[in-house]
Amino acid sequence: MHENLTVVDHPLVLHKLTLMRDKHTPSAVFRQLLREISLLLGYEVLRDLPVTTQVIETPLAEMEAPILKGKKLVLASILRAGNGLLDGMLDLVPSARVGHIGLYRDPETLAAVEYYLKLPDDIAERRVVAVDPMLATGNSVSAAIDRLKQNGANDIRFMCLLAAPEGIEALTAAHPDVRIFTAAIDSHLNDHGYIVPGLGDAGDRMYGTK
Ligand code: URA
Repeated sequence: MHENLTVVDHPLVLHKLTLMRDKHTPSAVFRQLLREISLLLGYEVLRDLPVTTQVIETPLAEMEAPILKGKKLVLASILRAGNGLLDGMLDLVPSARVGHIGLYRDPETLAAVEYYLKLPDDIAERRVVAVDPMLATGNSVSAAIDRLKQNGANDIRFMCLLAAPEGIEALTAAHPDVRIFTAAIDSHLNDHGYIVPGLGDAGDRMYGTK
C-alpha cells in the first residue's frame, strides 16, 4: 500500500458503497448515498485541518474554544461525476470555495480532454481537495491536478469513492505529493477503462443518462 493512500473502510461507508454498486439502485438513491459517503470520506480527508482558538462566551462561562485556522478550502470538482461528492463536501464545509474542471475521456485513447476550467483566484493560499468518484486509469485525475498546480495550487488531496490499482499507480507516479483517499480498491480495469467490479459509469448512474 502506498504511504499517501488512505482507504476509508468504515462499516457505514462499506454498506453504502455496496448499495451503490448494485445495478438495481435507482439514480435518486445513488446520488443520496454518494452525498452521504462524501461526508464520511471528507471527515478523514480533513482530519488534520489546522485549528487555532478564539475566546467566546457560552451561556455559562468564557472559554478559549477551537476554531479552524486561516484560509480554508477549495473543493475542486472534476466534472461531471465529481459533483456528487462535491455536494456532500459542501454540506460539511459550506464556506469552501469551489472550482470546476471539465474533462471527458476520449473513448478511443482514454486520454483526458479538457472542456471547462474555473478556479478561485486565491487557490495557492488554500488547501485543495479534488473530487471524482472513480480513479480508473488516472488520466483525467492527473490532468486535473496538472491544471490545479499550473494555477498555483500547492497543497492538494484527492478524494474518490473507488480506485483501480492501475489508477493509483498512475496518479502516485505523476503526483507523488498528492494524498489519495478512497472507500475501496477494486480488482482491475476492463478493456474500456471501467473499474471491475466497480459500479458502472458514475455520471450515468447519478443522472440516469443511460
Ligand atoms: N469512470 C466511471 O464512471 N466508471 C468507471 O468504472 C471508470 C471510470
